[in-house]
Parts: sequence; C-alpha cells; structure tokens
Amino acid sequence: MSKAIVVIPGDGIGEEITAAAVAVLRRADHKHSLGLVFETHQAGGAALDLYGLPLPERTVAAARQADAILLGAVGGPKWDAVQPELRPEKAILGLRKALGLYANLRPIRVPASLSEYSPLKPEIVSDIDILIVRELTGGIYFGDHCEATVIDGVEKAWDIEVYSVPEVSRIVALACQAATLRRGRVVSVDKANVLASSRLWRRTAEQAAEKYAGVTLSHMYVDNCAMQLALAPKNFDVIVTSNLFGDILSDEAAVLGGSIGMMPSASLGEGPGLYEPIHGSAPDIAGKGIANPVGAILSAAMLLRHSLTAETAAVSIERAVDKVLADGYRTADLYRPGLTEVSTEDMARLIERNI
Ligand code: NAD
Ligand code: IPM
Ligand code: MN
Repeated sequence: MSKAIVVIPGDGIGEEITAAAVAVLRRADHKHSLGLVFETHQAGGAALDLYGLPLPERTVAAARQADAILLGAVGGPKWDAVQPELRPEKAILGLRKALGLYANLRPIRVPASLSEYSPLKPEIVSDIDILIVRELTGGIYFGDHCEATVIDGVEKAWDIEVYSVPEVSRIVALACQAATLRRGRVVSVDKANVLASSRLWRRTAEQAAEKYAGVTLSHMYVDNCAMQLALAPKNFDVIVTSNLFGDILSDEAAVLGGSIGMMPSASLGEGPGLYEPIHGSAPDIAGKGIANPVGAILSAAMLLRHSLTAETAAVSIERAVDKVLADGYRTADLYRPGLTEVSTEDMARLIERNI
C-alpha cells in the first residue's frame, strides 16, 4: 500500500534541505519497500508570491489527505513588511492549527562525534538525550492579538497567553507517556511565580502526571531552565512546556549539539504528523548549497517512526547520519580544520550511501 508524503519546501534553505531529506527517504524506501509517494505543495513566502496567500486551501487540503507532511522552513526578509495576516510564518501556524498538531517533539541529542564541537565543554554535552515536548496550538501564539493601536494618544499592541486545563492536561500526559519509555523524569517549565496561565499549567500538570506511577514530575521556572540547559543539560530527560517557552528553549538547547541545523522535530496530534527541522529559512545562507540538511533528514526519520511505524527504516537513517558524522564529514556550520567539508547535497548523498 502506498503512503502519501506531502512535501512543503517553503522558503530560503527550505528547498535545499527538503530535497536532501526526500533523497534520503527515497533511498530508505528502496531498501525497506515503504511505498512512498511524494507530492510537493507550496506554503509561506513561496505561496504568497504564487497565489497571494501564505497558506492556500489546496495545501491544507493535501496535508489533510496525506499520511505525513515534511516541511522545510518559511519566512525571510522579502516578506517581513507584508501585513501580519499574510506573513509566511502564518502558514506554519495555520497548518499546525488546522491539523490539530498540539504536540511538538524536539529531541536534543549530541552524537559522540560532535561533543567536541559544541561551544560547551565535551564533558558537559556528551551523551545528552533530552526530549523537549512543546505545546503547539495554544498559548500566546493563539490568544487574542492586537496590532499597534493608538489608545489615549499612546500606541499599544498586545498578545494574550491563554491555556485551558484540557490543553495542558493532554500535552503533559503525552510528555509523561514519552518519559515512561525513557528515564521517567519530566520537568514542567513555566513562570508560575508571575503568570496566572503558568499557575494553571503547574496545577494541571500535577494532576495529569498522577496517572503515571513510574514518572517523576518536577517544576522549574523558565529563566532557571534557560540557565540549567547550559550549566547541567545532562540532568534533563523530558521537558514539557508552553508554545513560546518551548520555541525559545529548543533553539538554546540546539546549541548543545553544535548547530541548530542538526535538530529535527515531529508535530503530532489529531491530523497527519508534520515533520520539520527546528531551524528557520536561514536567509543568510540560502541558495549557497551549504545548509546542514541533517535536521531535515532526522525529521524524515521521525516521520517514518511516528507516522509510518517504519522503525527499522527510521533507525537506518539515524545510524547512517551518525556514521557520516563519525567519518568526519561536516557541512560549513560544523566544519573544523582536519575534517572534510561537504555541501548540502553531498551530505545527503553520503547519508544515502550508508543506509
Ligand atoms: P534561522 O533558524 O533561520 O537562522 C538562525 C541562524 O542559524 C542563521 O545564522 C542560520 O544561517 C543558521 N542556520 C539555521 N538553519 C541552518 C542549517 N540547516 N544549516 C546551517 N545553518 C543554519 O532563524 P532566523 O534567522 O531567526 O529566521 C529566519 C527566518 O526563518 C525568519 O523569517 C523566521 O520567521 C523564519 N523561521 C521559520 C521557522 C520555520 O519555518 N519553522 C523557524 C524559525 C524561523
Ligand atoms: C519554529 C518557528 C515558528 C514558531 C515560527 C516560524 C512561526 O520559530 O517552528 O520554531 O515560532 O513556532
Ligand atoms: Mn523557533
């Protein structure tokens, strides 16, 4: 039976890294007979230029029908001045919401071959295995917004953070479930010393975690968490947090592995899973063939694991990535003298060869 994969390259390096991930998926398909069928659709600035909308209905319709979605990245300076509703970033937010993808899994692992290349000391980052579970369809991203408005002669704008008990309950339950298959420790990250929404989050997290006997839940304020991630990252197993805090902490945690270009993600929920690296469209390096495709390729592995239950194929991609890195091949972001610098395409080809 065939499996429909909707590919949304998006903008900037999105095209280069999704091409690399699709090449690797085709190789995995060849080896493991997965029956993958690819269909490309537009979203973000690319769709805005073509259709006048960042998220055309035809892209949403195709995504709904798909078995899984692979996305590159959206956005870029070309569209920074468009009206807020038409921003490329709206495409990603709209897709997540339309498909009910409330759980964003962002695994942070540092392959042994990369621990020396982290800006932190190798003994601090070696063997790190953190799973950030980011709530993805609520919080300040989806509360009431008011663009700049003049009130009493003063210009103001606001965004409101709202969380409901069911929204917090389901994401914390998912984090606890994930922890049962890991080291059983969940840190819920909030700002409950200041924010009402965080106090509801904390109390709901306590209740949701009660059902998971083997899981230890603890709480941490987000400012301290930002520090602990750099100071003692090995202490973390699963982190569960809100949409905004998860966005920020995951970019910070990505540094542990030396480059944000390495980090994958899976967005899961009601509709088909959506898989994308955690980085953006990297306009500063777009079109140069030097972007690190590993985050996109590991996202493709997550796609096989979570949406296609093709665990063996997923592991074969992850092992191939480890092997190529251990052999000393690096894209520019992780290159150091003595290693071999390769392009985006070459990195994909090397990984393909090792599957
Ligand atoms: P970014 O993640 O695009 O880039 C930050 C830095 O990391 C840049 O120096 C970039 O060159 C580098 N980088 C990112 N991915 C890399 C890769 N694969 N290989 C090597 N280096 C890489 O973040 P930004 O510059 O803040 O945002 C640029 C645009 O992307 C903005 O329009 C933003 O809204 C958008 N964005 C989109 C997504 C998404 O589509 N999921 C995520 C984040 C940002
Ligand atoms: C991410 C991005 C998005 C987010 C933007 C582009 C809407 O930063 O996927 O991490 O903030 O969720
Ligand atoms: Mn982000």
